Amino acid sequence: MQQYFQLFNGPACFIWHGGEPLLAGIPFYEFALDLQKNHCSKHQRVENLIQTNATLITDQWAEFFRRSGFHVGVSIDGDAIAHDAFRIDKGGAGSFAKVWSGIEALRRHNVPFGVVMVLTADNAERMRSIFRFLTEKVKAKNISINAFIDEYQYSRASSDTLKREQFAAAIRDCMDEWPQDDAEGLRLREVDSIVAGAMGKRSRACSFNGGCRNYFCVNHDGAIYPCDNFTNQPEMKLGNLTSESLSIILDGPIRSEVLSRFESIHTDCNRCQWYLVCHNGCPAQRVDGVEGKFFLCEDRRKLFSYTKRLLDMRRPDSYLKFRSSLKRANNYERFSYCTKKKSPSGGYSPGEATAQSQPK
Ligand SMILES: C[S@@+](CC[C@H](N)C(=O)[O-])C[C@H]1O[C@@H](n2cnc3c(N)ncnc32)[C@H](O)[C@@H]1O
Ligand code: SF4
Ligand code: SF4
Repeated sequence: MQQYFQLFNGPACFIWHGGEPLLAGIPFYEFALDLQKNHCSKHQRVENLIQTNATLITDQWAEFFRRSGFHVGVSIDGDAIAHDAFRIDKGGAGSFAKVWSGIEALRRHNVPFGVVMVLTADNAERMRSIFRFLTEKVKAKNISINAFIDEYQYSRASSDTLKREQFAAAIRDCMDEWPQDDAEGLRLREVDSIVAGAMGKRSRACSFNGGCRNYFCVNHDGAIYPCDNFTNQPEMKLGNLTSESLSIILDGPIRSEVLSRFESIHTDCNRCQWYLVCHNGCPAQRVDGVEGKFFLCEDRRKLFSYTKRLLDMRRPDSYLKFRSSLKRANNYERFSYCTKKKSPSGGYSPGEATAQSQPK
């Protein structure tokens, strides 16, 4: 913490995940908050986000989250059938009931929470009813969908791995099921980013804006990785805090080389009209390594084109439906180079600019 705050004095965001981060216990986080308070500069904004499977959330935890202002993300894959199909304990029992009890504790203490759902080959087929469950029963206002791609071993995908096109179909299902008049401001990370991209705006999500430079991940043993998605790949280790300083690791040649590999432009992306609003997706989800192409490339293209057509038609019902996404996108940065030259098909291609990613 001390080293971090010596290096950075802008807005700071700590994301706690795991494993299961609640196993560390409340005193651990109280200690971390004390360290943040002691080392941050006077008016520095410091945020904490925790991503949890929610099975351990009690009234004490919920009260701690409320008091300390933690942003909470709950991992839930849909209703009990969808969730318990994968999220089982070591005895094989489903964990949905415990998750629900955790959600109720958050509600009792008025702790707002977002939801991360993992989309599998299985639950993708029921996306419409799952989306209704998440919005109507869980009453989630902020949803993210993570594509399950077999521990990121794309070449040896298991049967649970999302099939090509399932992702686009599932997102379309959510868009179809979207409340007709989104007055209350529903946010689904993927739809938000696709709407922003279709408008030529820079999404806030790293997997669309090529924003890996804004992050690093600290492991329990002091090892530093570019992102938690790479902690299973020893060759991606950037260094270790037990033997080097944070500044040496972050400014060092290994990180520089790794990030330039992330940013190398795939031949297909080089010709793609959506490059500036896609950036070849998340490097951890590229086929055959970080220099490969984003596993969900085709799905993304379809979604960008579909949404752009929808917006180009200027139908009042679409504007009403997605009004909160459109409003947010309006505040996002426009790719300045997009305004210089649009490709004939209305997209945005890499030849138009060489700009690197900007901080969030
Ligand atoms: C680091 S993980 C786990 C943190 C915490 N134990 C939880 O369940 O939220 C953070 C998120 O990634 C999701 N996740 C785990 N394995 C995944 C996989 N193979 N593919 C996509 N998302 C995954 C989890 O469901 C969770 O929402
Ligand atoms: S590797 Fe993926 S998840 Fe991690 S910062 Fe980069 S785009 Fe985001
Ligand atoms: S849509 Fe596909 S080709 Fe285009 S930038 Fe994204 S990953 Fe590359």
